[in-house]
Amino acid sequence: MTTAPSFPQHRETASDLRALYRAAEARAARLRVIVEAGRTLASSPPDAMDAAAHMVAQEAAHLAGFARGVIATQTEGALGGDDRLCLPLEAPASDGTPIGTLVLEHRIGTPSAEDHEALGIITQLIGGALAAQVREARLATLLAELLGAQEAERSRVAHELHDGVAQSAAALARRLELASDGDPADLDQAARQARALVRELRQVIAGMRPPALDDLGLAAALRQLVDEADEGSGVTLDVALASRPPPPIETALFRIVQEGFNNARAHAGDGARIIIRISEAGSHYRVEISDDGQGFDPAAQAARAAGRGFGLGYMRERVERLGGRLEVQSAPGQGCRLLAELPAS
Ligand SMILES: Nc1ncnc2c1ncn2[C@@H]1O[C@H](COP(=O)(O)OP(=O)(O)O)[C@@H](O)[C@H]1O
Ligand SMILES: [Mg+2]
Repeated sequence: MTTAPSFPQHRETASDLRALYRAAEARAARLRVIVEAGRTLASSPPDAMDAAAHMVAQEAAHLAGFARGVIATQTEGALGGDDRLCLPLEAPASDGTPIGTLVLEHRIGTPSAEDHEALGIITQLIGGALAAQVREARLATLLAELLGAQEAERSRVAHELHDGVAQSAAALARRLELASDGDPADLDQAARQARALVRELRQVIAGMRPPALDDLGLAAALRQLVDEADEGSGVTLDVALASRPPPPIETALFRIVQEGFNNARAHAGDGARIIIRISEAGSHYRVEISDDGQGFDPAAQAARAAGRGFGLGYMRERVERLGGRLEVQSAPGQGCRLLAELPAS
């Protein structure tokens, strides 16, 4: 004889099955949300990442029984409450500083332990994606800056070659034509011009990459620059630095002095005294190049040179690119004073 299963037992099995079925469905739903979130975030280009992250936040909210999910960029003040849940978003392998917060608002149900587990995975996914977005944006900026710097460097070299070297070479060629009749005075002059041309070429090359900077450090490289100009007597050079600045700052300081010094020699007039000072003032490096020569009107000069980006213009660009500032103080008959400040980091 077979015994029919007792009624209560049968009821229990059915509700167990229903519960199991519901749990399985919920688990599948959580998995679906997680997989979808991963897919959405991974396939979003950087400029669509914010929208994608918000979409995932909304899905996460629904999954955990909230009406609304948003990404907040500020991390402070994002406190949880009865009605909301705030989960920090961290970049993978970071020092634990959150880069944002996943805020779930308007509680409808109570999230289960499994829901919390799923939210943990989703916050990791969003944190990773946002961190990657920040990294990519930073890389893009760096690349653009690099290309811009390269372009500026090319135009600076082109300008120096055109204004200096090419013109000296043309003058030398004319002189050699004149000297074809064998006049020793013309030959003498040609030899002088050839030497000047070599000097100018050396200057252009040194301007591209000042090797002395790597070999000797800033103070000695500047000393060499001043001594090579062969006017040591009228030039005061005072470098007071406790430590070696970071390479980009060091190069910038060198170039600023190089340009300012060349300007003073070229434009200040004969016999002008030149003072170059470099110092460290708190969080800034300061460089000052002054002369007591004939001076000029900086505003008029800036208008003339607008958009050219050479000489003083290029100097300003270089200083500002490093987050510093440049002041040009001059007036006709009043000498000239260049003051540049660069942040130490
Ligand atoms: N120390 C200075 N004394 C007098 N004039 C100067 C001085 N520095 C710059 N100038 C003036 O500003 C102009 C622009 O300088 P800059 O941009 O370096 O271009 P460049 O030296 O190629 O002429 C110079 O042509 C000159 O007229
Ligand atoms: Mg110049």
